[in-house]
Parts: sequence; C-alpha cells; structure tokens
Amino acid sequence: MCGIVGAVAQRDVVPILVEGLRRLEYRGYDSAGVAVIDGDAHLARTRSVGKVRDLEARLDGHMAGATGIAHTRWATHGRPATENAHPHICRKTVALVHNGIIENHEELRRAQTKLGFEFTSDTDTEVIVHEIYRHLADTHDLLEAVRRALPALRGAYALGVITSEAPGRLVAARRGCPLVVGLGIGEHFIASDVAALLPVTQRFIFLEEGDVADLTRERVTIYDASGQIVERPVKQSELSADAVARGEYRHYMLKEIYEQPRAITDTLTNRIGLHHVYDEAFGTGAAAIFDTIEAVQIVACGTSYHAGLIGRYWFEALAEIPCSVEVASEFRYRRPRLAPHTLFVTLSQSGETADTLAALAHAKTIGVEHTLAICNVPESALVRQSGLALLTQAGPEIGVASTKAFTTQLVALLLLVASLGRRGHLGGDGERRIVGLLRTLPVLTEQALSLDAAVQSWVPAFANKQHALFLGRGTQYPVAMEGALKLKEISYIHAEAYPAGELKHGPLALVDADMPVVAVAPGNELFEKLHSNLQEVRARGGELFVFADAKNGITADERTHVITVPPTDDLMAPVVYTVLLQLLAYHVAVSKGADIDQPRNLAKSVTVE
Ligand code: G6P
Repeated sequence: MCGIVGAVAQRDVVPILVEGLRRLEYRGYDSAGVAVIDGDAHLARTRSVGKVRDLEARLDGHMAGATGIAHTRWATHGRPATENAHPHICRKTVALVHNGIIENHEELRRAQTKLGFEFTSDTDTEVIVHEIYRHLADTHDLLEAVRRALPALRGAYALGVITSEAPGRLVAARRGCPLVVGLGIGEHFIASDVAALLPVTQRFIFLEEGDVADLTRERVTIYDASGQIVERPVKQSELSADAVARGEYRHYMLKEIYEQPRAITDTLTNRIGLHHVYDEAFGTGAAAIFDTIEAVQIVACGTSYHAGLIGRYWFEALAEIPCSVEVASEFRYRRPRLAPHTLFVTLSQSGETADTLAALAHAKTIGVEHTLAICNVPESALVRQSGLALLTQAGPEIGVASTKAFTTQLVALLLLVASLGRRGHLGGDGERRIVGLLRTLPVLTEQALSLDAAVQSWVPAFANKQHALFLGRGTQYPVAMEGALKLKEISYIHAEAYPAGELKHGPLALVDADMPVVAVAPGNELFEKLHSNLQEVRARGGELFVFADAKNGITADERTHVITVPPTDDLMAPVVYTVLLQLLAYHVAVSKGADIDQPRNLAKSVTVE
C-alpha cells in the first residue's frame, strides 16, 4: 500500500527519496511522485503514473533540494492518474504525502471549497494539505499548523509535510498507519518502513499512535498524542542494505520461496530445546497465561488466514483445544461471542494490516484478556498492541504474494500447539513428537524445492487456461486454498479451492478439458477418499495434476499427471505441499509475463480497511 519517504539534509535528497521509493515498491502502487524545496526555497514537484523508473526518467536530474518528500500511491479515492498522485500541494506553499484514508474528506472538501480552496485531484488526501495550509497562514509554524489540522481528520494516516516557508523542516504524523524516523548524522528521514532507508541509516525510531515528529537537520523532536515531548527508544536495525536485495534470483518471490528452509530454521532457533518448546519464546508471562487457556480464536487476512485455518486442525486434533478461525474484516464487524479463557491469536506477516489491528482492538473491547501476535515484523503495531508475541524469522518479505511468511507462520502455530497441548491431552510425548518433526522440516522443504523442474514441466497445461480448481482434504484443504490464492494473485488465472468431498455438490459441473484440477495428496488416512474424488474428475474428462506422496502409488496416464513427493509425515505435509503449489503459481505467472512481485491491483501491506 502507499509508501512514504522523506528527508531533511544538507545534500540533495532526490536520489535518497527515489531509492527509498524503489525499496517500497513491493508494497504495491500505481503512481509515484516527489517534491523538494529547491535552492530558491520554492516547492518543485514531479509525479507520474506507473513505476518508480518512470518517475526517475521524468526527473532525469532536473530537480534537486535538501528537504523533500516522496510517495508511491495505491489508488483508493480517485483513479491512478498524475493529478491524483502525491505529493499534493496547496498554493505553492505546502506539500504533503499521505498513507491511509480520510473518512470525512467529503465534508472537509465542502467546507474548504467554501473557503476558496481549489481542488486538483479526486483524492481524500488533498483536504489535509489545505487544512494544514489554513493553519500555516495563521501561525507561520509548520509544526503548529500540522498539530492544529490533525483533529479535523477522521480516519487513518501517516503523513509527511514540508513547506517553502521553512525549507529545512519536515513534519510527520501517524495514526493508524506505520511510519518510522531514520536518524542520520546531520540529516534525518522518515519512511513507511525501515527497508526504504537502509542505504542511509540503521538507526530508527518507530512512531507510536498519535505521534507527531518535527525533523530538522540538527534534531528530531517527537510529541505524543497529548502534545507532550516524548523520548522514543532508538532501535538499531540488524538488516543490511542488501538484506532486501534480490541477488541472483529473477524475482523476489522465487528468492523467498527458496529461502524457506533457512526461514524455518531461524524460526525454530532458540524456541525449542531437545524435546520441548520454550514457553518464553512467546513473551514474558506466557507460561502462566497458557496454564489458563481453554480455547483459541485466530483472526487474520489473506494468506495469513489460510495459515490459521490449518492451525485449527492442529489445535483441535492434537491439543484438543477448541479453535475458531475468522477473517479479520468479518470478525471486527460481528458481535462475536468468545468462550472464557480464550487466547486471541492474530497472524500477520506485516503486523500493520488494518483489519487485523481493528479485530484485535475489538477483541479487547469485548473482554478478551490474553492476546498473542504471530508476526514477522518486531516493531509492528500488532506486536506492540498484543500481550504476547511470537516472531516468525522469515526476514523481510518483498514479493506481494506471501510465501516464506506463510510457512513460518505454520511453524509458529505448531510451536503454540505443542506448548498449549503439553498442558493437556497432547502431553510431553506429543510435544516431543512435534519438536522432532519440526527439526526435519528444513530438509523436507529442501526436498520439495528439488522438485522445481518437475513442477515447471506442468506450466504449458496452465498458461492458456482461464480457470483452475484446487482440491484437498483435511489440512490440505486450506493448503489448496493457499495454492489457488497464489495462482490467482500472480497469474490472474481464476482459481478456486474446494474440499475434495464437496466436488460433487457443485464444482463438478465445471469440470471439462479446459479446467485443470490440481490435487494435493499426502499419504494420510484421507487419501482413499481423495482418490475417489479424483476418479469423479477423471470420469468427466477433467485433467488432473496431482502432488502425491510416493507411498500412495498413484499412477500417471494421459490425463493424470503426477509429481511424486518423498514420504512426509502428515503434520509436516502442509508446508511441503504448499512449497510445491508456490512453485507452480510462480512458474505459470512467469510464463504469462506477469509482474510477479507487484501483481496488479494488490498491495503487500494493507493499511486501510
Ligand atoms: C495482503 C497481501 C497478502 C497478505 C494479506 C495479509 O493482501 O497481499 O499477501 O496475506 O495482505 O497481510 P498480513 O501482513 O496481515 O499477513
């Protein structure tokens, strides 16, 4: 979703801003822009629809300035167009970039129009820059103008603002959307996430809800929501500038698929002893809290939701703990009833997904006492707002289609199942079994990756198709959902997943030679049932693509294609088979020439509702 970068320095900041935008490209966007205060203390701005490289081509060395802001826009209000791209400017004096949504923008627009302000865009953002200008005209103080403007805004925002009246100053604010301050020597920065600023600094302050930051070259002053000056901790990032580099891989998504054995190993490191899971891995006081837990409620969005669906099978079958899973955007607007002693678990790669954060807040208002975030970003709002947290150690995930974050979420869920389950039905032996299996998972994942060439050989059968069906049973049903989501996200082929037993209740009507049917068939007690469902497809002339455990003995024929997967314990199978489905989606999308890492219309981090 929209990305923000800003800088106040002595040197020309345009190259820093453009490099920052390039590093935020993964969030998803459709247009980009930059504004600086030039050597004559005038605001200069360049915007363009399309990629950051298009913006760069327009800039072509024409703009320079030591104070500036830049933005990648993901359209919400107003189509992707140059006039809707940020920065927005009011009366050649104030320039602003915004991430989030201003809900009362129509009301503000009406009021400002009466006051004589002219609108040049269809965005909800433009009202903010006019509001700030209004107060700047009174106060001639940018910080004060921003602080006076903010109470008029209803909704979510991360903002960066500059004015030609104060060339060496940058004011930032956050409410509901992430924003970090980067600390340099004699220069300071803001950005939507640390990745944008890694070439210029490793030291960061993570702004809290309601914070306003006043940046000059010499100092950074932060005011909390009540207007008091506050000291926020300075964090040293351990990421290097090339931690988010693509290396030898053609796409980030492929790199991230191949990083999974390492990501899984890192997620297990320091979390497990020889035979058990350390409760401390979930945060201070986790052990005492876990002793009281009688039910689990999982809430998440997108790929993270699919991880939760798999987790439910494990919580109920292994730990015998009742577990519900719901997409966050539904949970937050229902009137859910949670059992006493429920552990409320949120799953999120980014930790900034607006719906998931709102669901967490809602859970607290209905009396949930114990919350746990399983998240990939330590400084995220979700981690900060949850009582307990288990951080997946996937490392930065850049491809919009989530891969390594998903499989490490599954690992984290198994750690939680083992820890909660030890206290009940699962017992020490069950925990020992899970821990032992998890240790084998990096190698199993490597084995799955070694089937890459076989997966690629299936690509021609999908590349020209409009639709595909994915089938699975048990934990493999959500795996099939994740496979279908991957394919639709990046190749734009319409793909649906069904529990294989549901086939005859509707989707079988769609099966014909133009509908490839993908099945995930590990060697478990459901295989015979799945096998019968696959026969139903074959009998209707459908073409089957089956990932099957070697011991199932499925034979290939003209219309049944089989990739044999090394025998895998059922508990590890969701990770192993997901890797294969990720590879399938990836290679099909590559063959279609799709924009793998930034699929159309999608955003990595969905910070609006
Ligand atoms: C977006 C991304 C998905 C992701 C979902 C949830 O839709 O494109 O890849 O699964 O958000 O994101 P989260 O960061 O909460 O896991």
